[in-house]
Amino acid sequence: MIANRILPSCRFEHLPLAVFESSAEASRAVAREMGDMIRSAALENRSVVLGLATGSTPLGLYSELVRLHREEGLSFSNIVAFNLDEYCGLPAGHAQSYRHFMRVHLFDHIDVTPGNINIPDGMLTGSALDAHCREYEARIRAAGGIDLQILGIGRTGHIGFNEPGSARRSRTRQVTLDPLTRRDAAHDFGGEEQTPRYGVTMGVRTILEARRVVLLAWGQHKAAIVRQALEGPVTSQITASFLQEHDDAQVILDSAAADGLTRFHSPWLLGPLEDQGLTWDERMTRRAILWLSRGKQKAILKLTDEDYNEFGLQDLLKVHGSAYAANLNGFYQTQHTITGWPGGRDPARTHAGDAPVRPLRARSAEIFPKRILLLSPHPGDDVVAMGGTMCRLVEHRHEVHVAYQVSGANSVSDHALWRALLFPGETENPGRTGLAQAEELKRQFVATGSFHPGHEVTRLKGMLRRSEAVAAARICGVPQTRLSFLELPFYHRAIGRFRQIGAEDIATVVSLLDRIEPHLIYVAGDLDDPNGTHRLCLRALREAMLLREDSAWQEGAEIWFYRGAWAEWDADEIDLAVPLSPQEVLRRRRAIFCHASLRDPFHSLDGASDEAWHRIEARGRRLADTYNALGLAEYESIESFKRYSPRDFVRFVPV
Ligand code: F6R
Repeated sequence: MIANRILPSCRFEHLPLAVFESSAEASRAVAREMGDMIRSAALENRSVVLGLATGSTPLGLYSELVRLHREEGLSFSNIVAFNLDEYCGLPAGHAQSYRHFMRVHLFDHIDVTPGNINIPDGMLTGSALDAHCREYEARIRAAGGIDLQILGIGRTGHIGFNEPGSARRSRTRQVTLDPLTRRDAAHDFGGEEQTPRYGVTMGVRTILEARRVVLLAWGQHKAAIVRQALEGPVTSQITASFLQEHDDAQVILDSAAADGLTRFHSPWLLGPLEDQGLTWDERMTRRAILWLSRGKQKAILKLTDEDYNEFGLQDLLKVHGSAYAANLNGFYQTQHTITGWPGGRDPARTHAGDAPVRPLRARSAEIFPKRILLLSPHPGDDVVAMGGTMCRLVEHRHEVHVAYQVSGANSVSDHALWRALLFPGETENPGRTGLAQAEELKRQFVATGSFHPGHEVTRLKGMLRRSEAVAAARICGVPQTRLSFLELPFYHRAIGRFRQIGAEDIATVVSLLDRIEPHLIYVAGDLDDPNGTHRLCLRALREAMLLREDSAWQEGAEIWFYRGAWAEWDADEIDLAVPLSPQEVLRRRRAIFCHASLRDPFHSLDGASDEAWHRIEARGRRLADTYNALGLAEYESIESFKRYSPRDFVRFVPV
C-alpha cells in the first residue's frame, strides 16, 4: 500500500486513498512500489505482469521509472506489459497513437524485451478486430494475469476507454469515445474533427481481474469525478466506481484532485475539526457558513441555531456562541470581498467617510497609481475572463500592461485564416509585401480545403490573433504600446498535452517582470489539465518569480488569480469580487467580439452556448445570483479573483 500520511478511514470514501502535495511526489511513490515489485520478482526469477495506461497522468511515473533504470539500475527485463487501450484508425507510427506514446515515454528508454510488449491493435476492423480482442484476453491469461494495473481516470469517469454505460462484465472490445473524452484529447489532434471516434480497450472485467489496481489522478479538473467515483454508488455510468468492488485497489491523488472529497471539502462532516488537526480559521468558517446557506437556501443572516445543528455544525456554533455571531462573521467576510476599486483608490479622489478598499492589503492599497500586469495565456483570455475589471483599472488611472504569453495560432482554423486573407486581396495596391503570398495561400485553400501546415501559416494565424487582441484591448482602454506578445516558445515545441516549459520561456517572463516591476499581477489560475497551456504559462510565471525572489518590487506585490472561461471559483474561495454594471457587461462583450477567430464556425460546433461571451456572461450572472442568495447586494454581474502573495504563490500553488 502506498502511503504518504495516514488518512483516518472516512465513511464517505469507499476506496483506500493516499494524497500527495504534488503529482511529482505521488508519481515517485508509485514508481517506487513498481520498482520494489519488479526487483523482488527478479530475485525469485519470476516475471511481473504490468497493466499500463497512457495519457498525461502517467507521464511523471514513466519518467521516474526511466530514471530508476538509468540511475539506480532497475532492470525491466522480467516484465510483461499490457496496455489498456489504443485509438482506432491510427497507424502505429502516428504521433498520437498509444503505441508511439509508450515508446517515446517509456519503452525506448528501458530494457524491456520487445516481445513482452502488448498493445491493442487499433488498425484492425470487423471480425479481425473481434478475434484480436479475444486473443488479447487470452494472452493476458497465458501470462498469468496482471499483477499491477495502472489507471488514469477520464472526466467521464472512464478507466481505459470504458465510457459511461460499460458493463461490469465487459472485456476487451471496440468502443465509441464519449464527446467529453474527445474534447479532452482534441488539443493533441489539432481539433475535435481530427480526433478519433473509436478506441479498443480492455474491459471493466479485464481490469478488475488484475491482482492490484492503482488509479492515479492529478489536477483540479479531476476533482469532481474523483469524488463521484470514490464517494458515490457503484455504477456503470462512472466505470471507475467499479474499483470499489476490488479487494486491492488504491487511489493516489495530488492535493488538487483530492479537493472535492468530503474529508477535504467539508471536513466538519467527519467530526470535530480539532480531532483532524484542523481549526476554525476564517476561511474554514466562511466555507462552512456559505455551504450551510446554500444547503438551507437561506441568506446568511437568516441562519438559525437549529440550521447549524441540523447540518452538523454544532462545533462551529460552539466557537461563536450563537448563530447570530457566526452569521455576522460569514457575512462580513463575504461582503469584504466586494469592491468597485480593484486597484485601490486615487487618494486625490478619496473623501472622508468612503468605505475602505478592503480586499487589498493595507500596504498595497496606499500605492497609487499602480503598475498592473495582466498575463493572458492566449490573446482573448484577458477580456474574456476579466474585461470588466480591466476597464475599471484603466478608468481608475492605473498603468495597465497586458502580456499575451503564447500566440494562440493553434486554435485558428484554416477557414478563419483564409477569410482574413480575403481582405488584402480585395484592396488595391498590388505588389505590397505579403500580398502575392496571401494570394498563393488562398489558391491553396480553395484547391485543397486546407493549408499545408508550416511555419508561415502558423505565423499568419498568430498575426491574426494579435490584431484581434490589439482591437479588444483598445476597447478596454489599453493602448497598443502597453501590450506585449511574448510568444513563449514552449507553445510550438510539441503538440498538446506533452509540452514542458524551458529556460527560454522563463527568461522571457523574467525580462517582462524586470521591465514592468508590477504592483499587481493578474494571472490565469487554472490548474486544470496538468500540461495545458494555461498551467504551463502559470508555471513559467512561478519559475520567473522564483528567480526574482529577492527583487524589491515583489515585497509589496499581490498576485490575483482569475479563472478561464470554463470554470469559476467557489464563492468561499473568492478574495475579490468586482461587480459590473450592465453597461460594463456590454463593453466587455464588444471587446470579446473582437476575437472573431474564436467565433469561427469551424472552431467549435457546439452552438452558441459554447461561445466565450455567452459562457462568461452566464458565469458572471450566476455568481451575482449566488452573492444575492447569500443575502448580499443584487448586481448585474461579478468578476472574481483569488489572492496570493508572491511568497505563497511560489511555495504553495501546486503548478
Ligand atoms: C489511457 C486511458 C485513459 C486515461 C484517461 C485520463 O490509456 O486509458 O483512461 O487514463 O483518459 O487521461 P489523462 O491522463 O490524459 O487525463
